[in-house]
Amino acid sequence: MAVSVRDVAVAASVSVGTVSNVLNRRDKVAAETVERVLAAIDELGFVRNDAARQLRAGRSRSVGLVVPDAGNPFFADVARGAEARAEEDRLSVLLGNSDEDPSREDRYLDLFREQRVNGVLISPASDVTDKLERMQDAGIPVVLVDHELPGSALCSVSVDDVEGGYLAVRHLIDIGRRRIAFIGGPSSIAQVANRLSGARRAVDEKPGASLEVIEMPALTVLNGRSAGEDIVGRAVRPEAIFAANDLLAVGLLQAFSMFSTVRVPDDIALIGYDDIDFASAAVVPLSSIRQPARLIGHTAVDLLLRSIDDPDGDYERNVRFRPELVIRQSTSG
Ligand code: RIB
Repeated sequence: MAVSVRDVAVAASVSVGTVSNVLNRRDKVAAETVERVLAAIDELGFVRNDAARQLRAGRSRSVGLVVPDAGNPFFADVARGAEARAEEDRLSVLLGNSDEDPSREDRYLDLFREQRVNGVLISPASDVTDKLERMQDAGIPVVLVDHELPGSALCSVSVDDVEGGYLAVRHLIDIGRRRIAFIGGPSSIAQVANRLSGARRAVDEKPGASLEVIEMPALTVLNGRSAGEDIVGRAVRPEAIFAANDLLAVGLLQAFSMFSTVRVPDDIALIGYDDIDFASAAVVPLSSIRQPARLIGHTAVDLLLRSIDDPDGDYERNVRFRPELVIRQSTSG
């Protein structure tokens, strides 16, 4: 028997009208009431009427994918890999861009639950572990993408970003650079924190090497360009830069080539992360740490479908790929 709006109203001690307002005109309801109603919806596993048809017919022929930045080619490639695997089972991928905004991320998770997707893939922008585990308990399998949560019941497909950060800075040290800068984003982004951790390990291993950490508001080309302009204006500059992703690195290259005579790699060696297509096509072909983005997406859907068809099967539920150092002109003469 499907859970009704009335069941939710009783559970949340509100009127049916209030539940309807929470679903359709949330801005008209007090935050505390919204929270109470959403908790009842989660708890009861309520789905809106407009998905009832799909509920009767089973699941929709789709999987939901939530990424923190759809403008980042890395996540576009993850989506392409996910689509390739989904199409093998005649499924579609519904893409949601959270833009690193927890409330947008939450709305997409609610939408995918209402749409009764076969499962959800997510690269979380915030700590949504409880919600994801409740979704999985309510019958919607979840796979973490480009992220892992040791000890959680959630499947995951990720890359060892600590090793990736180590490889990047170890390479800069191996080409003789000692005064190194890490240019990243908010340390709340797990991938950034892990890359920095690996970078620190490489510096700690080398007497005389130093690491300056520069935190930018976001991992974008414009933020890379802004960081590059600051560095150009300095009397003493780093000898090398490890950018937390290729978009930042491309922005740094723009600043160095458009605003100054800073030569890459002669004055500053530069390495990025992801190895997106723009890396090899950059004005100075960019060294990078390669993540197998399409394979990550393909594997995540494959793992999701296995968890549906063979929930107790003998297969790895937390797949972790190795990062790969790709050396190009930006770190070699
Ligand atoms: O989302 C932040 C970063 O983590 C992206 O640029 C990509 O590198 C991902 O792994």
